[in-house]
Amino acid sequence: MRRLHFFISIALLLASSFAAKAQMSTLKDAYKPYFSVGVAVNLRNISDPTQIALIKRNFNSMTAENVMKPQLVQPHQGEFYWDDADKIANFCRENGIKLRGHCLMWYKQIGDWFFKDEDGKYVSREVLYDRMRTHIYAVVNRYKDIVYCWDVVNEAINPDSSSPEVYRTESGFWEICHDDEWIKKAFQFAREADPNALLYYNEFNECDPVKRQRIYNMVKTMKAEGVPIDGIGMQGHYRIMNPTPEAVDETIKMFSQIVEHIHFTELDVRLTDGNEKFPQWGDVTLDEKDLKRQEEYYVALFKVFRKNKKYLDTVTFWNLADADSWLGRKNGPLLFDFDFRPKQVYRSVVNFTD
Ligand code: GLA
Repeated sequence: MRRLHFFISIALLLASSFAAKAQMSTLKDAYKPYFSVGVAVNLRNISDPTQIALIKRNFNSMTAENVMKPQLVQPHQGEFYWDDADKIANFCRENGIKLRGHCLMWYKQIGDWFFKDEDGKYVSREVLYDRMRTHIYAVVNRYKDIVYCWDVVNEAINPDSSSPEVYRTESGFWEICHDDEWIKKAFQFAREADPNALLYYNEFNECDPVKRQRIYNMVKTMKAEGVPIDGIGMQGHYRIMNPTPEAVDETIKMFSQIVEHIHFTELDVRLTDGNEKFPQWGDVTLDEKDLKRQEEYYVALFKVFRKNKKYLDTVTFWNLADADSWLGRKNGPLLFDFDFRPKQVYRSVVNFTD
């Protein structure tokens, strides 16, 4: 009987110390042996004490959700606006969090002026490259001390995999160049501006078999030509079980043959199937069954990430909480809820056993 008591108390002690440990663990601590964990933030996230505490506890890498994009930094030619981007850079500096730079060249969220002359006609390739150089040098130089890597080019591959055209054609870059030279120039300018930053090509729907082959071919060919591409950013805007964890694993393996650095740059897992974005406000109750499936998927994904730790440097979530995801409330795609509290999926991602 005494013995039984003894064993029961030992078991209780172990269970409670395990629970305490589990309680204490946070994303960045749990994943320290694997990769850094990042979060894309807006200015509200770094102004509110609850959200600041959450960021500091859980993340050791950050991305500016919007304020470092071309349109926001240089809305008109030669007129740079730094205040908002500076706030995020300063937050990182003050809190010892490293910053992923996002993004230097993207066909979206870039001023129309970038591609046009005073008469609204497309400029020449030479003028475009001049503008690219000016923009890239200015942004990269300003944040050199804190930005450790840049998404140099975002989403240049054709989103329509059924089309024979490899590159995205509805873009100012394409309208002017009709080839991929501008991509190479962007990487060259970024390397000139900061020889120490890691330079990434960043893309969505990156596990699609046709698209990933196109990314692979482009990066491989350009690297062979001496274009300074260090890594591939897999955005990771996923839906439950789509792509499958196996497809994610295969894609990491494939990219690891041609680059030394792979980042998950914009991870979220939406609860709905379509492309609809929902409002970021209002009373929404998320379905328990959907949340359970989301949890299983996140757990499977992070298992794949851990398995591939030698290739992965960072896994970044796109936004902090369901409260302010760009996808809106009904998609509930993140690990923290509408009140910035951890969801069950958070605990399952943090408390792994393998
Ligand atoms: C893309 C961009 C991001 C962001 C998302 C939507 O993935 O890379 O900067 O705009 O779309 O938030």
